[in-house]
Amino acid sequence: MIDGPLGLLAELTHACPLSCAYCSNPLELTKRSAEIGTDDWRRVLDQAADLGVLQSHFSGGEPLLRRDVVDLVAHAAGLGMYTNLVTSAIGLSRPRAEALRDAGLDHVQVSIQADEPVLSDRLAGISSFDKKMEAARLVKELGWPLTLNVVLHRQNIDRIGAILDRVEELEADRVELANTQYYGWALRNRSALLPSRAQLEHAEEVTRSARERLRGRTDVIYVIPDYYARYPKPCMGGWGARQLVVGPEGNAWPCLSAHELPLPRANVQEHDLAWIWRSSPLFSAFRGTDWMPDPCRSCERREVDLGGCRCQAFQLTGDMTRTDPVCHLAPDRGLVDAAVAEANSDGGPSRSPQEPAQEPVLVPVP
Ligand code: SF4
Ligand code: FES
Repeated sequence: MIDGPLGLLAELTHACPLSCAYCSNPLELTKRSAEIGTDDWRRVLDQAADLGVLQSHFSGGEPLLRRDVVDLVAHAAGLGMYTNLVTSAIGLSRPRAEALRDAGLDHVQVSIQADEPVLSDRLAGISSFDKKMEAARLVKELGWPLTLNVVLHRQNIDRIGAILDRVEELEADRVELANTQYYGWALRNRSALLPSRAQLEHAEEVTRSARERLRGRTDVIYVIPDYYARYPKPCMGGWGARQLVVGPEGNAWPCLSAHELPLPRANVQEHDLAWIWRSSPLFSAFRGTDWMPDPCRSCERREVDLGGCRCQAFQLTGDMTRTDPVCHLAPDRGLVDAAVAEANSDGGPSRSPQEPAQEPVLVPVP
């Protein structure tokens, strides 16, 4: 018997007012006209609750661009789920925020790009820093726990001390300092985003001391970039093991980037979620360890990291069954080493937080 998923990531839309170059959305974004409707999402939430889902994360793109987001939050809350809004905060006006609170929204995660407007607005592609600060304060005022999510990369990681000062000023309950994962747009922009080893060491040192200072007030989560790790992450806690993603067009996925893989689709307009989760070829493809090639097949860590990330293997090697090239035992580790060597070839940009970061060579998300 396969256990049900714990969490549903509902990607309501790919549309977004920002155009961050590290976006993990697909290179081919779903058009607004192809998005599934409110009734489809209500049915997805009903079926998710029947499967045992306890947490719904409303995400995108920018979920606030969907007019029905308040209705969907209310529906999920009515099913007894813990509800989380993952937002850039653009569009989180006071009336909208109050409606979401009345609908039963439990938690808000706001993304920020940097600690100050010039760099933040450049990375976001639009003037947005002031709105984000205002929205973060509103989240606290309305009594929600506030999580700030900061995607770290070569262009902003040297400002981590100032970013943590801003986190403290906003009285965030939690901050996720998440080094960029190189999928989709981020992989395309990797050479402008991957930090040097010196930058990472500096960031880790600053984070360690901030964690001490903020203990008891703010949880500081630091996600290392897996290109610098010896072993891969057990992506999503395992393929089809704990989490389920439903995209704007109704396709269900075991993770955020599986749309790139040459696997059969499973759409919520054609199948119910229980069949998709338990029986679809897509969700069954990499469950457990039987699918593994060597060296994973005979490795003592195969139940720990489950061979790493299938999407990373596919995006770097063209073969989704290969060992994740991040693993130092992988036959393809040279691909990751080459990117790391390139990122360290010039020592990285200046680490002075006073100086503006170098102009990035970024391909913005349309
Ligand atoms: Fe994990 Fe496979 Fe590397 Fe072993 S060989 S550590 S199972 S990725
Ligand atoms: Fe798809 Fe890791 S993102 S398995």
